[in-house]
Amino acid sequence: MTKLFITGGAGFIGSAFVRLLLNERPDVELINFDALTYAGNLDNLADLESKRHHFVRGDIVVREDVLANLPQDCDAIINFAAESHVDRSIASAGEFLRTNIIGTQVLLDAARERNVRRFVQVSTDEVMGSLPEDDLSYFTEDSPFAPNSPYAASKAAAEHFVRAAHHTFGVDTVITRCGNNYGPRQFPEKFLPLTISNAMHNDTIPIYGDGLNVRDWIYVDDHCRGILAALEKGKSGSVYNLGARNERKNLEVVHSLLDTLGKPRTLLNFVKDRPGHDRRYAIDPSLAETELDWRPLESWESGLAKTIDWYQQNPTWIERTRSGAYQDYYKNQYGVEVRTT
Ligand SMILES: NC(=O)c1ccc[n+]([C@@H]2O[C@H](COP(=O)([O-])OP(=O)(O)OC[C@H]3O[C@@H](n4cnc5c(N)ncnc54)[C@H](O)[C@@H]3O)[C@@H](O)[C@H]2O)c1
Repeated sequence: MTKLFITGGAGFIGSAFVRLLLNERPDVELINFDALTYAGNLDNLADLESKRHHFVRGDIVVREDVLANLPQDCDAIINFAAESHVDRSIASAGEFLRTNIIGTQVLLDAARERNVRRFVQVSTDEVMGSLPEDDLSYFTEDSPFAPNSPYAASKAAAEHFVRAAHHTFGVDTVITRCGNNYGPRQFPEKFLPLTISNAMHNDTIPIYGDGLNVRDWIYVDDHCRGILAALEKGKSGSVYNLGARNERKNLEVVHSLLDTLGKPRTLLNFVKDRPGHDRRYAIDPSLAETELDWRPLESWESGLAKTIDWYQQNPTWIERTRSGAYQDYYKNQYGVEVRTT
């Protein structure tokens, strides 16, 4: 059996990765270690009945908890756990430093202490800042760091510690960076599920600034396949950009969603721009394509259709995550308190 320690596996991308592993890697057994913050959701794992999946509630910043749950013969740690919402980092950065930076270092130390064979850090294109609006430049693995938000700064700092663990202590590390993920089970504070759930409720949809910021969208399962390829085939000490060559302006995304949902564009509400809002992200995934033999499988149209369909088929998931009743439901259903940060 391959033994994996996955952090943040009750969140949006982590839960998709756990699902992918259980479906496609019968020899994998995993500890899913998650603090269950407001973004962690055991409903995301409710359909997984595999005996190879062991959920543990725990905080990556707490060394004793990590060591107590890390298997002795662990093959890899894959670190998804993070505070992940840029707007929250602008309001208050403390939790971002705590989880994203200190938590990553705690995991790296644990990997070293226990001789874990590989450490995968799930990072973001945002560490490289913003690209000019109207040229054909792309982020490569060699693009300089230029994080513009507290969130991006915390993820960039985490990457530095991963790099340092590799160079100083010889930890076998791989870093993946991707753009904006979309798909089922994304907490509806993020742009795409917020738009879908507000449209479904006929609520107005906030659009920052002129709505012309560009993001490079990737379907969550494609991203997870890329992380799996990096885990299995990546070169030690490497960074891989995972992108689907799918740049879209925010307004274009919202128009597609509203048209598919049959909702009017009058729901759009242009609001004051986010401070320091990055204008454009675009990823060159050539290295991952060549070295990992990885390609996204989903087109924008098919991924968007699957995403919208999932939210339409799961209205109670949206209701719970949107409403204050979420915390009560959660306590009754799972007997745990959700952390509000
Ligand atoms: N969502 C995106 O578009 C995107 C893009 C690029 C990179 N990423 C990165 O991918 C990873 C996963 O993102 P996501 O969108 O699934 O995030 P998410 O917010 O949906 O999930 C984060 C998970 O981490 C858990 N967590 C938070 N603090 C923790 C702690 N101290 N200890 C243990 N668990 C903790 C939460 O409970 C939650 O389950 C993050 O590292 C993020 O930076 C996300």
